[in-house]
Amino acid sequence: MSTQRIAVIGGDGIGPEVVDATRAVLDALAEVHSLDLAYDEFDWSCRRYAEHGAMMPDDALDTLRPYDAILLGAVGWPGVPDHVSLWGLLIPIRRTFRQYVNERPMTVFEGVDSPLRRARPGTEPGGVDLVVVRENVEGEYSEVGGRMNRGFPDEMAVQESIFTRVGVSRIAEHAFDLAKRRTGYVTSATKSNGIVHTMPFWDEVVADVAAGHPDVRWDAELIDALAAKVVLEPERFDVIVGSNLFGDILSDLTAAVAGSIGIAPSANIDPTREFPSMFEPVHGSAPDIAGKGIANPVGTLWSAVMMLDHLGHPEAASALMEAIRETLKDPATRTGDLGGSASTAEVTEAVVQRVRR
Ligand code: NAI
Ligand code: MG
Repeated sequence: MSTQRIAVIGGDGIGPEVVDATRAVLDALAEVHSLDLAYDEFDWSCRRYAEHGAMMPDDALDTLRPYDAILLGAVGWPGVPDHVSLWGLLIPIRRTFRQYVNERPMTVFEGVDSPLRRARPGTEPGGVDLVVVRENVEGEYSEVGGRMNRGFPDEMAVQESIFTRVGVSRIAEHAFDLAKRRTGYVTSATKSNGIVHTMPFWDEVVADVAAGHPDVRWDAELIDALAAKVVLEPERFDVIVGSNLFGDILSDLTAAVAGSIGIAPSANIDPTREFPSMFEPVHGSAPDIAGKGIANPVGTLWSAVMMLDHLGHPEAASALMEAIRETLKDPATRTGDLGGSASTAEVTEAVVQRVRR
């Protein structure tokens, strides 16, 4: 296999800290598993925006196009509006590269306390193991709409939701295929009682796709009730498929239920592989702890597990996952968000040691 090239965008705040940690672990893994990975770093960020008036250069997307994958930390910084950092970097990458699947797995690790485990002491590690599959390029996050009459009492805003048969079918197909490789159960998040055009359409298209997968069980659940069930009985779920907005909210919720947003990973995937896919933790730039060396690198490390799987290195991916699991078990190598006192560097070193073993 020839060299696989990875574009690295640290971004802002703790983004570069967790990405550097992940690079160190990937270097160790590459040695042990003979991976041929090469990296190029890009300083695209809110810092760059402050200096040059743009999050990334004009030709950034052309620059990224030939890479095999993109590893991203987080973007966003006080003083730069969040919609500027999001629409100036993340969203153009997701959309231009047709990363229409956003996969966000969640599991309960041994040693990671959580509101869920306190409330349900019977919830064993591994007892909760689910993936939120979020539609990533259309739906509620659309560019269609506008604002009028700014500053007048009749000021108004319109934001349209866009749901296409192609868009809903392919995300549902991805969810059903994924469920086949897991426990074979899909939950579709809907709101067809209240949202009367797009959500009944979503339901119809998902049902069409489900008909082609008779070996996968599935249910549609209203998003409000589903949010409550994910908190109260998360062990019931396997793959949850939702629109851009529902998937976004549900995956933050599942991360919190599992213990910390600091451990939650995500993959923005173009399953056709025409374009590079992007791997990033769910969390943001965490300005409150940036520069202190205490950020939890696990969300980014787990994202790297997903990247290695995507790049065709399943053994290296499972070795890294195992190293993460073992590291979390040890109270001495947990960061502050998990009730520990380890630094980013200490957690990273522990993972590197396990990878080398
Ligand atoms: P955040 O995820 O950055 O932080 C929320 C809370 O979780 C903070 O208390 C933070 O210290 C903690 N936290 C997050 N990641 C952690 C980690 N790895 N280890 C330990 N603690 C961690 O979300 P917030 O504060 O709403 O947003 C901060 C900035 O990040 C904003 O500018 C926002 O737009 C941006 N953001 C960027 C995202 C991305 O690049 N994909 C995603 C979410 C937010
Ligand atoms: Mg979110």
